[in-house]
Amino acid sequence: MGFYVTTPIFYVNDVPHIGHAYNIVAADTLARWHRMRGDDTWMLTGTDEHGQKILRTAMANSVSPTEWTDKLVENAWKPNLEVLNVANDDFIRTTEDRHRVGVQKFLQRLYDAGFIYHGEFEAEYCVGCEEYKTPGDLVDGVGEYEGQSVCAIHSRPTETVKEANYFFKLSEFQDRLLELYDTRPDYVQPASVRNELRSFVAQGLNDLSISRSTFDWGIKVPWDDSHVVYVWFEALMNYITAIGYGVDDEQFERRWPGNHIVGKDIARFHAVIWPAMQMAAGIEISERVYGHGWLLVGGEKMSKSKATGIEPKQITEVFGIDAFRYYFMSAIHFGSDGSFSWEDLDSRYHAELANGLGNLASRVIAMVNKYFGGEIPQVPSEDALAELFRSETDRANSSIDEFQIHDAVDAAFSIVDRLNGYITETTPWQLAKDESKRDRLAEVLATNVRGLGTAAILLAPVMPESAQKLWRGIGGADEVTDQRIQNAHEWEVPARVDELSPLFPRIEQN
Ligand code: ME8
Ligand code: MG
Repeated sequence: MGFYVTTPIFYVNDVPHIGHAYNIVAADTLARWHRMRGDDTWMLTGTDEHGQKILRTAMANSVSPTEWTDKLVENAWKPNLEVLNVANDDFIRTTEDRHRVGVQKFLQRLYDAGFIYHGEFEAEYCVGCEEYKTPGDLVDGVGEYEGQSVCAIHSRPTETVKEANYFFKLSEFQDRLLELYDTRPDYVQPASVRNELRSFVAQGLNDLSISRSTFDWGIKVPWDDSHVVYVWFEALMNYITAIGYGVDDEQFERRWPGNHIVGKDIARFHAVIWPAMQMAAGIEISERVYGHGWLLVGGEKMSKSKATGIEPKQITEVFGIDAFRYYFMSAIHFGSDGSFSWEDLDSRYHAELANGLGNLASRVIAMVNKYFGGEIPQVPSEDALAELFRSETDRANSSIDEFQIHDAVDAAFSIVDRLNGYITETTPWQLAKDESKRDRLAEVLATNVRGLGTAAILLAPVMPESAQKLWRGIGGADEVTDQRIQNAHEWEVPARVDELSPLFPRIEQN
């Protein structure tokens, strides 16, 4: 099976914050999971570099847009992937030639097929969103914008665009889009996003202005070089230009269609405009669009423009990369909004990682060393627990099929929790005092090692480094990622435990 997963491409007007990181880690977790299933996996991320927002940011900083974007990509966005330990297979910049070539081919195809026309137009535009706004998208301004209408997202006035532009016949696709939502209920998820988009489309669609002629920071329209392509229209194409659309048919066939992990705020672009473009160009519709929730800080969507942005490094430098990844993947129901707080992070880190998992691992390994000289008893797990390892492995895998990442982590942690309870109930240190209970002691410790290994395998996509340390600690050979994650309950128990590197040290905050 193939699995192609994408993040949005991020605007490089500023540096990454934890809202972006949340999205990227989710896509990376899904990709790592599918690789461990043996699927032919590909993960793409990248940067969205054209348009007025970037152009104005560069001008405000007195540099050319090229200098600005190069600097942000190299100094902030690419390093951010290392900060988060993301194993992306590719990184696309919309300023690359491969993107321009694919965009121009795609656009020419739409033009030749009669889906693009030239027309006059006047509309309100929010440069922060890079989006045309209808009156319903605007709210009354406050403070310095009192008396004006402002974008509901950016709280700033829109600008009136009055130009002769090229238009895409989006309105023609209403029926086919509704049919898509109805015949493929999994296409847009979660259901809240799907319902919202369905009723948006049911109200009727306007054609979309897809070019601008008053600035030139963009990709030229192939048949009219006095226009550049509307930044969103070309940005959506990154998902196919990166895998060789129009250039490398073999790679394109191998990867496409893709699964798009996006914030719910941009689901409309991905599940209304993008599929209409795909229909017009005659390519297969994306596999899935998953619109996740927002990270909230103080009850509001965290954003740089509102100065509530937290950089990923601020967290990873204190708690470590795996704790960052674990926290966001487990504490927030994927698909719903979630509030970030340092207190919550700190308490989950200590309760779930340091005390829950870390402590369990070191106790089990210490007992195997103490009572069996480091040799893992080669006996089957206790039935009830063996059954739990199997059922939680199944639950974790089917949760991933539904993109319910938090539920997959929960399945792995229910093994950890159960083992902690099991140790308390079975008191191996008491069993060890009685020679006649030697077989029972062997069963208890074998069960613990088996369950820890299953947890390590299931947690590897979320916490790659800690899972590997744990795997080594229980004597696992090579890489935990060599294991098949759908068989996490059946891994081959090694002869001996090994040394456990510290997993989650306690953190004293000043
Ligand atoms: O929208 N919580 O780029 P972008 C969760 N270039 N997700 C958040 C978030 C938060 N607080 N803040 C931002 C763009 N995001 C376009 C995409 S794709 C062809 C073009 C998410 O840099 C946001 O929802 O503004 C979006 O999905 C992503 O970060 C990119 O944001
Ligand atoms: Mg944004």
